[in-house]
Parts: sequence; structure tokens; C-alpha cells
Amino acid sequence: MAEDEPGDGAPRAQDGPYTGPRATDVTPEPDHGDDAGYITRTRFLSNAAIAGGGVLTAAIMVPVVGFAISSPLHSEDYRWVTIGPASEFLKNPPPYATPVPSTRIGEVTSLAVSGPDPDADRRAFVVYGLKDPAARPTPGQGEDPAAYEARFSVWASRLGADDFDLIAIWNRCAHLGCPVAYSPGSAGYVCPCHGGAYDGRGMVTGGPPPRPLDRLDIKIVDTGKTYTPEQIAKGEDRVPLAVAAGSSNPRLQVLVGKPYSIDQEQRPFPLAGPGQPVSGTLSHLYPFH
Ligand code: FES
Repeated sequence: MAEDEPGDGAPRAQDGPYTGPRATDVTPEPDHGDDAGYITRTRFLSNAAIAGGGVLTAAIMVPVVGFAISSPLHSEDYRWVTIGPASEFLKNPPPYATPVPSTRIGEVTSLAVSGPDPDADRRAFVVYGLKDPAARPTPGQGEDPAAYEARFSVWASRLGADDFDLIAIWNRCAHLGCPVAYSPGSAGYVCPCHGGAYDGRGMVTGGPPPRPLDRLDIKIVDTGKTYTPEQIAKGEDRVPLAVAAGSSNPRLQVLVGKPYSIDQEQRPFPLAGPGQPVSGTLSHLYPFH
């Protein structure tokens, strides 16, 4: 019989208290808590979470900060550009104030606007007309033409200088930037790329554009007078439209300047890029909507 077989009654080498290694005696892992160069799993996960949060924060903040910084910088790239004598743009009376032809929205002049920035080849439509085209009477159904003309004449006779304005509309589509064209038939602007449509003041009437056409600041000045930069900054060089409209003075010139965006209520906003809404809920979600 082998000596380690049970049943012989003799003490065995493995009997008695166990003195070998125990599970609780496992040698503890060295604590690297004070070792900044040692990457524990906890530290790795913490660092990864911090890095991920940083990336997300940057993704949100970089466009915001960039927009805040670039807008004022970008605006300095623009300067006032003289586009011609006021008498060229202020035809009197404006077509708005005459019943025929009924579809015209005002004098629309398409011209190249030179500038020092890459958009130097942009074009502008300069429109002289009613601030509120919807106020213009239209013939009622079955209305006698003579009665309509009489009604129109009464309305037109009440128009004052404050009812008209001179605006410069940039031809860059507010959807993705294609150049829009003026369509006399629709008395508005159409975009050849995706069917964007605007009325005569550049307000969206159809298609994907998220906001109206951008505008350029515009003013009429008397080039025979000089003004200090402070006076110009305050707008003291601007000749009122009502004064210029009734004048043939060749020194009165029209200038266009810094572009800006508007919303459908014609409220001004800093210039936005194509596709960017400037008001409403979508403007807060851009570019994530
Ligand atoms: S770029 Fe004008 S509708 Fe798309």
C-alpha cells in the first residue's frame, strides 16, 4: 500500500493547521495614487471623461466665439462704395404710387458692388419703393376700373415721404448662396439652384431659404460737403430721402456699405451665413437642426 493512502492511522505530512498561502494573503497591488505618471483605470476613465467633455464644449463654443469675433472683424472689411447719383435711383413718382403697371415693385437697379473682400463681385438690387407694398390697393373682384382708379388715387394722394424707402438687396441667396435674379414677371427674385423665391423687398415667399435676402447699408450724401468721422459715425452726413427725392442736385450720391441680415419682420441682425436663420427657434438650434 502506498504510504499516503488513508486508513493506515499514521500521521501525514499534510495534516494539521494549514500554513500555506491563503487567498486573503494575496500581495496587494502597489498603490500608485501618488504617482502622477502612472495611469490607473480610474484615472484613465476620468481623463477620458474630461477630454470628451472638453471636445463637446469646444464643439459648441468655437462656432459661438468665432461668430462673435468674426462679425466685427468681418464688418471692417467693408467700406462705403459710391454707386451713382441719387437722381438715378429716386425716380419721381415711384412706380409704387401709380396704378399702372400694377406689377412693378419700384425701381430695381442691379449693379456690381465692388469691395475689398472676396465678395467683391457681389451684386445689389437697389429698390426705391413703398415700405409696405401690401398697403397698395388692388382691384376688388368685379370692381369697376374707374372706381378702382379713383380709390387708388385717394390712397396715393395720402402717401408721404415716410411711406417710401431706399434699400439695397444683396443678390446672395439666403439658402446656400447662389446668385438670385430679379424676375419682372413675379416682381421679385428667384434662385436658380433650389427654387428659392423672394418678393420685391427680398422677403421669402417660397422654397428653402431660412431668412430674407441680406441687405447692404445705404445712404445718400452730399459730396459737396465734408464731415468729420464722428459726424459720419452718427449719420449726420445722411441726406433725408424726402429731400433727395425732390432734388436733381448731382452732388447727391448714393453709397452702399456694410451688409447685414434681416428676418421676416425686417428686423436687422449681424450678417449671417447662407442657410442660417437669424430669429425664431431654429436660430438657437443652428447648425444642429
Ligand atoms: S441656393 Fe438658393 S434656393 Fe438653394
